Amino acid sequence: MKNSDVQYINEISYGYWKAQALFVASELDLFTLIGKQGKSGKAIAKNLGTDLRATEMLLNALVSLKLLSKSRDIFWNTAVSKRCLSKNSPAYQGDRIKHFHNMWDYWSGLGRAVKTGKPTAFYNAKKGVDRQRLREFISAMHNTATVQADEIYTKLQIKERSRLLDLAGGQGSYSVIFAKRNQNLKAVVFDLPDVIKLTKEHIKESGMTGQVTTKAGNCLEDSLGKGWYDIVLVSHLLHAYDATESQKILKKCWDSLIKDGIVVIQEFILNPSKTMPPFGTLFSLNMLMGTQGGSSYSAVEMNGWLKKAGFKNIKRIELGMDSGLIIGKKI
Ligand SMILES: C[S@@+](CC[C@H](N)C(=O)[O-])C[C@H]1O[C@@H](n2cnc3c(N)ncnc32)[C@H](O)[C@@H]1O
Repeated sequence: MKNSDVQYINEISYGYWKAQALFVASELDLFTLIGKQGKSGKAIAKNLGTDLRATEMLLNALVSLKLLSKSRDIFWNTAVSKRCLSKNSPAYQGDRIKHFHNMWDYWSGLGRAVKTGKPTAFYNAKKGVDRQRLREFISAMHNTATVQADEIYTKLQIKERSRLLDLAGGQGSYSVIFAKRNQNLKAVVFDLPDVIKLTKEHIKESGMTGQVTTKAGNCLEDSLGKGWYDIVLVSHLLHAYDATESQKILKKCWDSLIKDGIVVIQEFILNPSKTMPPFGTLFSLNMLMGTQGGSSYSAVEMNGWLKKAGFKNIKRIELGMDSGLIIGKKI
């Protein structure tokens, strides 16, 4: 008889085996290599310069995870790996996988973080910003935006809006995609100076310099302007900060908006008791280790901050992935 509760605990315990198999496979880029044709283990190992026995073990494990299929010793991509793991797909998620892999080191310090309440992510101020890691982080955010921006644009019904502040907008992926769908939209991507260098590259590459511009600054310290924008997007920013800082940011958003303007928060929204959904609760631990006071927040908390900042008509929009939107209007 299947001992399902023991099995359940086992599956959680070896979860990192699955993650490591994916990290290594994605790093080797073997899904792009396999492509549409399918390849034998021997051909894959030869091409990658890896050990044949070990490579076949990895490939077989990937079959068990439904990331490959196998027929007569030939490995094929599945629908999921074709869409998310091949560099030739517009929905490629490899940068996001790399970002999860990068978090591995500080996740191994979770026990210490729980004991001390302090972050475990290592930042050496003397060395300054790790440019490679920053680029990987920003590219990871781009992977998510490319598969979510159209859904968000459609659900927000913002084709009449013309001045967007993409606050903490990373490389400006949402601004670029929204601006492509709305030719009357002018977007300003606001982010920290080191990030804005990458934002400028992305906007130039996407050919959207006419509609999307940038502003470098720190949203906790610098002005966001007064009464100018008709929409402010605050996507995945508040979780990096505590309640007081989040409240301060939302008040600045209020100031920067015109009457009838809206603020749109995108976050991993928790239930009122903060116990669900799993990704949001685990993401809180990620913020425990990666920031000074960040956390996932419940809709109740974010609604409270919006009300305090002056926003009305607060509503929530569910999205197809882990995050959701909370919208407030300046009346
Ligand atoms: C998780 S990323 C989200 C990027 C983008 N909004 C998205 O949803 O894909 C958080 C962004 O917030 C920016 N950020 C964090 N603190 C900031 C601050 N005080 N002022 C401006 N930008 C900030 C980071 O540089 C980073 O680009």
